[in-house]
Amino acid sequence: MDQERLSAIWARTVEKLKEVVREFRITEDELHEAGRYFDRLGQAGMCRSLIDVALAMTSVDVVSRTAGGTRPNLEGPYYAVHPIRPDGNLLEREPGADVPRLRLSGVVRDASTGRPIPGARLDFWQADADGFYDRKGSHLRGIVVTDAQGRYQITTVVPNDYSEHDQDPIGELFRAMGRTNTRAAHIHVKVSVHGESLLTTQLFMPTSQFLNRDYVEGAVSDDLTVKLESEPPLPNGTKLYRATFDLAVAPRMRSTAA
Ligand code: BEZ
Ligand code: FE
Repeated sequence: MDQERLSAIWARTVEKLKEVVREFRITEDELHEAGRYFDRLGQAGMCRSLIDVALAMTSVDVVSRTAGGTRPNLEGPYYAVHPIRPDGNLLEREPGADVPRLRLSGVVRDASTGRPIPGARLDFWQADADGFYDRKGSHLRGIVVTDAQGRYQITTVVPNDYSEHDQDPIGELFRAMGRTNTRAAHIHVKVSVHGESLLTTQLFMPTSQFLNRDYVEGAVSDDLTVKLESEPPLPNGTKLYRATFDLAVAPRMRSTAA
């Protein structure tokens, strides 16, 4: 970051924080308590996560949003390099028969022309039905490519809400405020066309208990919440849902649109 921009941001930040100190008549002891908290947060390697929770969506909405495009959402900490899934199946192992499956499909379109985009890469990652990400392998992770009509489809499970900060200073802060540190169930997706990343977003599950209290400020919105429709159950009785979600992106190279 250049020196002028950094100095201006620092000055404005301090100015805004002074307002908070005045408004709440924050004592020197309380400031030192905050300092000790930030020391613990840093030792736990959680500074980035707390910034994500409080501010990332404000940045995403202001900086990354494109006219007419799907609303972007934060990447979060669990993105990794994923394998290509030619058949769209993100499951590397069979979950229990009680775990509802999901077939998610849709079309990737050019936000300005509405034309489908063939060959777009969609990179998916999500938590499982217990709210856990596979951090070592690629279960419930994978890349699919849109067909000649711009269509994609994945087979996965319905993800669950998760709170992964119960044992660290982020959970401590939210507990102290009487709030939960839970994310509303979602599926992450990154869309790229001709190697250029055009959209990172999250699709929320209507089954979540936390749609109106996701601890990531401003993450959940109706336009990113899918509708689940029941399909006939699988032969072993497992519930199956279907959802469609079209994604609109703004390719910078016009020639990428079909
Ligand atoms: C996520 O989207 O996976 C995430 C975002 C912020 C904090 C924790 C998780
Ligand atoms: Fe996530």
